[in-house]
Amino acid sequence: MTNMIPPKKICCIGAGYVGGPTMAMIAAKCPDIRVDVVDLNEERIAAWNSDELPVYEPGLYDVVKEARGRNLFFSTDTEAAIVDADIIFVSVGTPTKTYGRGAGRAADLCYIEGAARMIAKVAKGPKIIVEKSTIPVRTAEAMRTILTANSSEGQFQVLSNPEFLAEGTAVEDLQCPDRILIGGERTPEGDAAVETLVNIYSQWIPRERILTTNLWSSELSKLVANAFLAQRISSINSISALCETTGADVDEVARAIGMDSRIGPKFLKSSVGFGGSCFQKDILNLVYLCEHFGLPQVASYWESVIQMNDWQKERFSGKIVNTLFNTVRNKRIAVWGFAFKKDTNDTRESAAIYVCRDLLLEGANIALYDPRVSQETIIADLKYVGVSQEMIDAQLTICDSCEDAALEAHGVAVLTEWDEFKEADYSRVLDGMHKPAFIFDGRNLLNHDTLRKIGFEVYAIGKG
Ligand code: UDX
Ligand code: ADP
Repeated sequence: MTNMIPPKKICCIGAGYVGGPTMAMIAAKCPDIRVDVVDLNEERIAAWNSDELPVYEPGLYDVVKEARGRNLFFSTDTEAAIVDADIIFVSVGTPTKTYGRGAGRAADLCYIEGAARMIAKVAKGPKIIVEKSTIPVRTAEAMRTILTANSSEGQFQVLSNPEFLAEGTAVEDLQCPDRILIGGERTPEGDAAVETLVNIYSQWIPRERILTTNLWSSELSKLVANAFLAQRISSINSISALCETTGADVDEVARAIGMDSRIGPKFLKSSVGFGGSCFQKDILNLVYLCEHFGLPQVASYWESVIQMNDWQKERFSGKIVNTLFNTVRNKRIAVWGFAFKKDTNDTRESAAIYVCRDLLLEGANIALYDPRVSQETIIADLKYVGVSQEMIDAQLTICDSCEDAALEAHGVAVLTEWDEFKEADYSRVLDGMHKPAFIFDGRNLLNHDTLRKIGFEVYAIGKG
């Protein structure tokens, strides 16, 4: 394996929210290494090669522009990219299975397996394979088995290098991560492969922030980090319900407990519920693992984090219906924001999908505005959770601004914390709405005192 240091070529299979930005950062920081990012999806690759990137991330375009065409290339030619790469990152999706054994819980590894089979078919000589996708513990072993069983000319070292970037802050997170985690086999060859990857990251990240572990610790750490983060949100959301019934203020409670240095202030923002491609998927994965290994108590402990999140979303749509005099049938409700958090166009598992579905099923007319999410994505997401085309045609309007959405509405629901919502023209919003004019702030984003002063009825999460 020693002839692979230093690597000259890297390739990444999968140009999604993780693969694209991560490879762009590596290419920008390591101008001597050629980085090829490949994907089956031609439209996605065309977008990576254009001025309109498929992933909206503040600052990402500048990073891509710096390296694209110099040492960063996006293409659909997977085989050509694999054949002469020293390091192959695998960053394909691992959604929750929707069929068969483990449906609704286990991760679907069909894309991982597809990538491994492709590598085995094409690769010649020594290669380091790096798992970037979040995957269940022991997937590296499965990958190694597929690779060695299907390749006569390749020699493989499989590493786990989970990505901890959060969407919306991907560039910052990649530029200055809390830590980089690299897991490898504890053999001389495994150690050499780990060191090769360490050398790449140490081009811009202090060595002491690069942790190396065995493969399984690395794989499990990613699931556990996401489970702990999600658990904090479910914990504060559970308290939000108590605050509402007792007259406490959840933001004040979060501030008070967060100043305890043992608890810390981050990830204590109560909301309509967490979304994103990772939290739910990874917890379900953890639950599945625990059940598989005969630990039902541990499984149900973690499952409750998801149950609390589901309840928070239902509670929010229920609150809207109850407040609007127990019926939203034929009433217009403005929905502000559809992305799962601000500064991303990603909607995977967004709370907005479920709140909109519930309101549509109650007969509401939804007027929706999101500054970054496309109409196609919104419609596809709603259909995926069971909303019919007829309902979409009859009850959903996509608007060009939050003020337009609020026109003739009985209520406004803030579901994503986009900064521009703070700057809306609230006098105009109020004038255009039916009275009483309700605002349901699912992100505790707005200045509620001011809104009440100008005449709104405000419901906020966790405010008694
Ligand atoms: C998460 C992890 O943070 C990241 O390390 C991992 O690599 C991928 O999963 P991401 O899903 O992109 O990142 O965003 P994150 O900022 O973690 O937010 C997840 C969800 O939790 C969002 O819906 C967000 O609005 C919500 N959230 C977050 C809260 O409701 N309250 C908080 O205090 C923090
Ligand atoms: P993430 O958020 O983890 O980056 P995404 O779903 O956004 O996940 O991206 C994964 C990408 O991987 C998709 O664009 C998909 O087309 C691509 N992909 C899946 N399997 C393969 C494969 N065998 N070869 C190339 N690309 C693949």
